[in-house]
Amino acid sequence: MSPLPAAARSLAAVTGAGALLGAGLATYAACEARAYVLRRVEVPLLPPGHRPLRVLHLSDLHVTPGQRRKLEWIAGLADLRPDLVVDTGDNLAHRDSVGPLLDALAPLLAVPGVFVMGSNDYFEPTMRNPVRYLLPDDGRRHTDTPQLPWRDLAGAFTGAGWLDLTNRTGTLAVGGTTFGFAGVDDPHLGYDRLDDVTGVAGADRHADVRLGVAHAPYLRVLDAFATDDCDAVLAGHTHGGQVCLPGGRALTTNCDLEPARARGLHRHPADSRPGDPGSAWLHVSAGLGTSPYVRFRVACRPEATLLTLVPQGAPRR
Ligand SMILES: [Fe+2]
Repeated sequence: MSPLPAAARSLAAVTGAGALLGAGLATYAACEARAYVLRRVEVPLLPPGHRPLRVLHLSDLHVTPGQRRKLEWIAGLADLRPDLVVDTGDNLAHRDSVGPLLDALAPLLAVPGVFVMGSNDYFEPTMRNPVRYLLPDDGRRHTDTPQLPWRDLAGAFTGAGWLDLTNRTGTLAVGGTTFGFAGVDDPHLGYDRLDDVTGVAGADRHADVRLGVAHAPYLRVLDAFATDDCDAVLAGHTHGGQVCLPGGRALTTNCDLEPARARGLHRHPADSRPGDPGSAWLHVSAGLGTSPYVRFRVACRPEATLLTLVPQGAPRR
Protein backbone atom coordinates (compact mmCIF):
# COMPACT_ATOMS: atom_id res chain seq x y z
CA MET A 1 0.00 0.00 0.00
CA SER A 2 1.39 3.42 -0.95
CA PRO A 3 1.83 6.06 1.80
CA LEU A 4 -0.50 8.52 0.00
CA PRO A 5 -3.74 6.59 0.56
CA ALA A 6 -2.73 6.07 4.21
CA ALA A 7 -2.16 9.84 4.63
CA ALA A 8 -5.43 10.52 2.89
CA ARG A 9 -7.20 8.10 5.24
CA SER A 10 -5.63 9.83 8.26
CA LEU A 11 -6.68 13.23 6.96
CA ALA A 12 -10.21 11.98 6.39
CA ALA A 13 -10.30 10.52 9.91
CA VAL A 14 -9.08 13.79 11.42
CA THR A 15 -11.53 15.80 9.34
CA GLY A 16 -14.36 13.49 10.31
CA ALA A 17 -13.44 13.71 14.00
CA GLY A 18 -13.24 17.50 13.73
CA ALA A 19 -16.66 17.66 12.10
CA LEU A 20 -18.12 15.40 14.80
CA LEU A 21 -16.52 17.50 17.53
CA GLY A 22 -17.84 20.70 15.95
CA ALA A 23 -21.34 19.24 15.63
CA GLY A 24 -21.18 18.08 19.24
CA LEU A 25 -20.10 21.50 20.46
CA ALA A 26 -22.83 23.22 18.45
CA THR A 27 -25.44 20.85 19.87
CA TYR A 28 -24.17 21.43 23.40
CA ALA A 29 -24.15 25.24 22.96
CA ALA A 30 -27.70 25.21 21.57
CA CYS A 31 -28.88 23.04 24.49
CA GLU A 32 -27.08 25.28 27.00
CA ALA A 33 -29.01 28.27 25.64
CA ARG A 34 -32.26 26.50 26.63
CA ALA A 35 -31.09 25.17 30.02
CA TYR A 36 -32.84 27.82 32.13
CA VAL A 37 -31.82 27.98 35.77
CA LEU A 38 -32.94 29.96 38.78
CA ARG A 39 -30.05 31.40 40.75
CA ARG A 40 -30.60 32.39 44.38
CA VAL A 41 -28.54 35.14 45.98
CA GLU A 42 -28.72 36.74 49.40
CA VAL A 43 -28.03 40.48 49.65
CA PRO A 44 -27.59 42.06 53.10
CA LEU A 45 -28.87 45.60 52.55
CA LEU A 46 -32.11 45.98 54.52
CA PRO A 47 -32.14 48.12 57.65
CA PRO A 48 -32.00 46.09 60.87
CA GLY A 49 -35.35 44.63 61.88
CA HIS A 50 -36.88 44.54 58.38
CA ARG A 51 -38.25 41.21 57.22
CA PRO A 52 -36.45 39.51 54.32
CA LEU A 53 -37.86 40.27 50.88
CA ARG A 54 -37.69 38.25 47.66
CA VAL A 55 -36.78 40.23 44.56
CA LEU A 56 -37.04 38.47 41.20
CA HIS A 57 -34.50 39.92 38.78
CA LEU A 58 -35.43 39.28 35.14
CA SER A 59 -33.30 40.39 32.23
CA ASP A 60 -32.58 39.82 28.56
CA LEU A 61 -35.51 37.53 27.86
CA HIS A 62 -35.16 38.17 24.09
CA VAL A 63 -38.52 36.49 23.49
CA THR A 64 -39.69 35.32 20.09
CA PRO A 65 -43.29 34.07 19.73
CA GLY A 66 -42.38 30.41 19.18
CA GLN A 67 -40.32 29.97 22.32
CA ARG A 68 -42.98 28.00 24.17
CA ARG A 69 -40.60 26.27 26.56
CA LYS A 70 -38.97 29.53 27.62
CA LEU A 71 -42.34 31.23 28.06
CA GLU A 72 -43.61 28.34 30.20
CA TRP A 73 -40.48 28.54 32.34
CA ILE A 74 -40.96 32.29 32.80
CA ALA A 75 -44.63 31.77 33.73
CA GLY A 76 -43.55 29.25 36.38
CA LEU A 77 -41.45 31.90 38.15
CA ALA A 78 -44.65 33.20 39.74
CA ASP A 79 -44.52 30.11 41.99
CA LEU A 80 -41.58 31.79 43.76
CA ARG A 81 -44.06 34.35 45.11
CA PRO A 82 -41.62 37.27 44.86
CA ASP A 83 -42.33 40.48 46.74
CA LEU A 84 -40.92 42.62 43.92
CA VAL A 85 -39.92 42.13 40.28
CA VAL A 86 -37.09 44.08 38.65
CA ASP A 87 -36.91 43.78 34.84
CA THR A 88 -33.72 45.18 33.35
CA GLY A 89 -34.73 45.09 29.71
CA ASP A 90 -34.15 43.35 26.39
CA ASN A 91 -37.49 41.59 26.72
CA LEU A 92 -38.22 41.45 23.00
CA ALA A 93 -36.64 39.91 19.93
CA HIS A 94 -39.56 39.97 17.49
CA ARG A 95 -42.37 42.32 16.53
CA ASP A 96 -44.99 39.70 17.57
CA SER A 97 -43.51 38.96 21.00
CA VAL A 98 -45.45 41.36 23.21
CA GLY A 99 -48.61 39.22 23.48
CA PRO A 100 -46.91 35.90 24.31
CA LEU A 101 -44.56 37.65 26.72
CA LEU A 102 -47.39 39.39 28.56
CA ASP A 103 -49.25 36.07 28.81
CA ALA A 104 -46.19 34.49 30.43
CA LEU A 105 -45.63 37.42 32.77
CA ALA A 106 -49.31 37.82 33.71
CA PRO A 107 -49.02 36.37 37.24
CA LEU A 108 -45.89 38.42 37.91
CA LEU A 109 -47.56 41.62 36.73
CA ALA A 110 -49.79 41.33 39.78
CA VAL A 111 -46.65 41.76 41.92
CA PRO A 112 -45.06 45.20 42.48
CA GLY A 113 -42.44 45.77 39.81
CA VAL A 114 -40.10 48.19 38.10
CA PHE A 115 -38.53 48.13 34.65
CA VAL A 116 -36.18 49.75 32.19
CA MET A 117 -35.78 48.98 28.51
CA GLY A 118 -32.78 47.74 26.56
CA SER A 119 -31.75 48.36 22.97
CA ASN A 120 -33.35 45.09 21.88
CA ASP A 121 -36.74 46.26 23.13
CA TYR A 122 -36.51 49.22 20.78
CA PHE A 123 -35.08 47.83 17.55
CA GLU A 124 -35.51 44.64 15.54
CA PRO A 125 -32.52 42.34 15.82
CA THR A 126 -30.29 41.87 12.81
CA MET A 127 -27.81 39.25 11.74
CA ARG A 128 -24.34 40.20 12.96
CA ASN A 129 -20.97 38.50 13.07
CA PRO A 130 -20.89 36.90 16.56
CA VAL A 131 -17.11 37.25 16.66
CA ARG A 132 -17.63 41.03 16.83
CA TYR A 133 -18.78 40.64 20.45
CA LEU A 134 -15.29 39.44 21.38
CA LEU A 135 -13.61 42.42 19.72
CA PRO A 136 -13.25 45.95 21.15
CA ASP A 137 -16.39 48.09 20.89
CA ASP A 138 -16.37 49.87 17.51
CA GLY A 139 -19.09 52.26 18.68
CA ARG A 140 -21.58 51.14 16.07
CA ARG A 141 -25.15 50.82 17.31
CA HIS A 142 -27.91 49.26 15.24
CA THR A 143 -30.67 51.83 15.52
CA ASP A 144 -31.57 51.82 11.83
CA THR A 145 -33.79 48.72 11.91
CA PRO A 146 -37.59 48.95 12.35
CA GLN A 147 -38.76 49.70 15.88
CA LEU A 148 -40.34 46.94 17.92
CA PRO A 149 -43.66 47.59 19.74
CA TRP A 150 -41.90 48.59 22.94
CA ARG A 151 -44.53 51.25 23.67
CA ASP A 152 -47.16 48.50 23.89
CA LEU A 153 -44.97 46.57 26.29
CA ALA A 154 -44.19 49.60 28.45
CA GLY A 155 -47.89 50.55 28.45
CA ALA A 156 -48.87 47.06 29.62
CA PHE A 157 -46.22 47.12 32.35
CA THR A 158 -47.25 50.53 33.66
CA GLY A 159 -50.92 49.61 33.26
CA ALA A 160 -50.30 46.70 35.61
CA GLY A 161 -48.71 49.06 38.11
CA TRP A 162 -45.01 48.51 37.41
CA LEU A 163 -42.87 51.65 37.65
CA ASP A 164 -41.21 52.82 34.44
CA LEU A 165 -37.69 53.87 35.48
CA THR A 166 -36.62 55.13 32.06
CA ASN A 167 -34.57 58.13 33.16
CA ARG A 168 -36.95 58.40 36.10
CA THR A 169 -37.15 57.86 39.82
CA GLY A 170 -39.93 56.31 41.85
CA THR A 171 -40.88 54.97 45.24
CA LEU A 172 -42.61 51.72 46.20
CA ALA A 173 -43.60 50.32 49.58
CA VAL A 174 -43.15 46.56 49.61
CA GLY A 175 -43.65 44.30 52.61
CA GLY A 176 -42.94 46.99 55.18
CA THR A 177 -39.87 48.34 53.36
CA THR A 178 -39.85 51.53 51.28
CA PHE A 179 -37.78 51.37 48.11
CA GLY A 180 -36.48 54.47 46.36
CA PHE A 181 -35.56 53.74 42.75
CA ALA A 182 -33.53 55.56 40.14
CA GLY A 183 -33.31 54.20 36.62
CA VAL A 184 -31.81 55.11 33.29
CA ASP A 185 -32.63 54.43 29.68
CA ASP A 186 -30.22 52.09 27.94
CA PRO A 187 -26.61 53.26 28.46
CA HIS A 188 -25.48 51.02 25.58
CA LEU A 189 -27.26 53.41 23.23
CA GLY A 190 -26.14 56.45 25.21
CA TYR A 191 -29.77 57.13 26.19
CA ASP A 192 -29.01 57.43 29.93
CA ARG A 193 -29.68 60.81 31.57
CA LEU A 194 -27.86 60.37 34.85
CA ASP A 195 -28.22 64.01 35.85
CA ASP A 196 -32.01 63.52 35.86
CA VAL A 197 -31.91 60.64 38.38
CA THR A 198 -28.98 61.36 40.69
CA GLY A 199 -28.07 64.10 43.13
CA VAL A 200 -30.98 66.34 44.14
CA ALA A 201 -33.12 64.58 41.49
CA GLY A 202 -32.09 61.13 42.70
CA ALA A 203 -33.90 58.25 44.38
CA ASP A 204 -36.03 58.98 47.45
CA ARG A 205 -33.60 59.75 50.29
CA HIS A 206 -36.24 58.92 52.90
CA ALA A 207 -36.59 55.38 51.56
CA ASP A 208 -35.30 52.40 53.54
CA VAL A 209 -33.46 51.06 50.49
CA ARG A 210 -32.24 52.91 47.39
CA LEU A 211 -31.77 50.93 44.19
CA GLY A 212 -30.27 51.96 40.84
CA VAL A 213 -31.60 50.14 37.77
CA ALA A 214 -30.10 50.05 34.29
CA HIS A 215 -30.00 47.71 31.32
CA ALA A 216 -26.29 47.90 30.51
CA PRO A 217 -23.85 48.18 33.45
CA TYR A 218 -21.52 50.81 32.05
CA LEU A 219 -19.05 52.08 34.62
CA ARG A 220 -20.28 55.68 34.39
CA VAL A 221 -23.73 54.48 35.46
CA LEU A 222 -22.45 52.31 38.29
CA ASP A 223 -20.19 55.12 39.50
CA ALA A 224 -23.05 57.63 39.47
CA PHE A 225 -25.48 55.39 41.38
CA ALA A 226 -22.86 54.26 43.91
CA THR A 227 -21.69 57.83 44.49
CA ASP A 228 -25.33 58.84 44.94
CA ASP A 229 -25.65 56.41 47.87
CA CYS A 230 -27.66 53.70 46.20
CA ASP A 231 -27.51 50.51 48.23
CA ALA A 232 -27.45 48.33 45.11
CA VAL A 233 -27.50 48.54 41.34
CA LEU A 234 -29.26 45.93 39.19
CA ALA A 235 -28.42 45.45 35.53
CA GLY A 236 -28.34 42.92 32.71
CA HIS A 237 -27.08 43.21 29.09
CA THR A 238 -23.89 41.18 29.46
CA HIS A 239 -25.54 37.75 29.00
CA GLY A 240 -22.87 36.71 31.50
CA GLY A 241 -20.40 36.72 28.64
CA GLN A 242 -22.64 34.19 26.79
CA VAL A 243 -19.65 32.26 25.41
CA CYS A 244 -17.44 31.57 28.40
CA LEU A 245 -14.41 29.49 29.15
CA PRO A 246 -14.90 26.23 31.07
CA GLY A 247 -15.86 27.14 34.61
CA GLY A 248 -17.89 30.10 33.40
CA ARG A 249 -15.12 32.69 33.00
CA ALA A 250 -16.47 35.42 30.74
CA LEU A 251 -14.40 36.84 27.91
CA THR A 252 -16.50 39.93 27.30
CA THR A 253 -19.37 41.99 28.74
CA ASN A 254 -20.32 43.97 25.61
CA CYS A 255 -19.68 47.13 27.66
CA ASP A 256 -16.84 48.62 29.69
CA LEU A 257 -17.48 46.50 32.81
CA GLU A 258 -14.65 44.03 33.26
CA PRO A 259 -15.47 40.35 32.50
CA ALA A 260 -14.91 39.27 36.13
CA ARG A 261 -18.21 41.01 36.98
CA ALA A 262 -20.12 39.82 33.89
CA ARG A 263 -22.72 38.15 36.11
CA GLY A 264 -23.61 37.60 39.73
CA LEU A 265 -23.35 39.64 42.90
CA HIS A 266 -20.36 41.93 43.32
CA ARG A 267 -19.46 45.24 44.87
CA HIS A 268 -19.01 48.51 43.04
CA PRO A 269 -16.28 49.66 43.11
CA ALA A 270 -15.17 46.05 42.84
CA ASP A 271 -12.77 46.25 45.79
CA SER A 272 -15.16 48.11 48.10
CA ARG A 273 -16.79 46.75 51.22
CA PRO A 274 -20.31 47.28 52.57
CA GLY A 275 -20.39 50.58 54.39
CA ASP A 276 -17.64 52.18 52.30
CA PRO A 277 -18.81 55.66 51.21
CA GLY A 278 -19.76 55.81 47.53
CA SER A 279 -20.03 52.05 47.16
CA ALA A 280 -22.92 49.72 46.41
CA TRP A 281 -23.86 46.13 45.74
CA LEU A 282 -23.97 45.26 42.05
CA HIS A 283 -26.07 42.45 40.68
CA VAL A 284 -25.65 41.61 37.00
CA SER A 285 -28.05 39.07 35.53
CA ALA A 286 -26.75 36.75 32.82
CA GLY A 287 -30.27 36.92 31.40
CA LEU A 288 -32.54 34.32 29.91
CA GLY A 289 -32.07 34.73 26.19
CA THR A 290 -29.84 35.44 23.25
CA SER A 291 -30.15 37.18 19.94
CA PRO A 292 -32.36 35.01 17.70
CA TYR A 293 -29.41 34.93 15.30
CA VAL A 294 -26.93 33.62 17.91
CA ARG A 295 -28.90 31.03 19.83
CA PHE A 296 -26.09 29.45 21.75
CA ARG A 297 -24.33 29.77 25.08
CA VAL A 298 -21.18 28.10 26.36
CA ALA A 299 -20.56 27.52 30.08
CA CYS A 300 -23.10 30.26 30.81
CA ARG A 301 -26.61 29.08 31.50
CA PRO A 302 -29.57 31.38 30.93
CA GLU A 303 -30.89 32.52 34.27
CA ALA A 304 -33.35 34.42 36.36
CA THR A 305 -32.30 35.38 39.87
CA LEU A 306 -34.17 35.42 43.14
CA LEU A 307 -32.42 37.98 45.30
CA THR A 308 -33.32 37.60 48.96
CA LEU A 309 -32.78 40.93 50.66
CA VAL A 310 -31.90 40.50 54.32
CA PRO A 311 -30.96 42.98 57.04
CA GLN A 312 -27.39 44.20 57.07
CA GLY A 313 -25.26 42.20 59.44
CA ALA A 314 -27.66 39.22 59.32
CA PRO A 315 -25.87 35.87 59.43
CA ARG A 316 -25.40 34.44 55.95
CA ARG A 317 -26.96 31.01 55.48
FE1 LIG B 1 -29.60 41.23 25.78
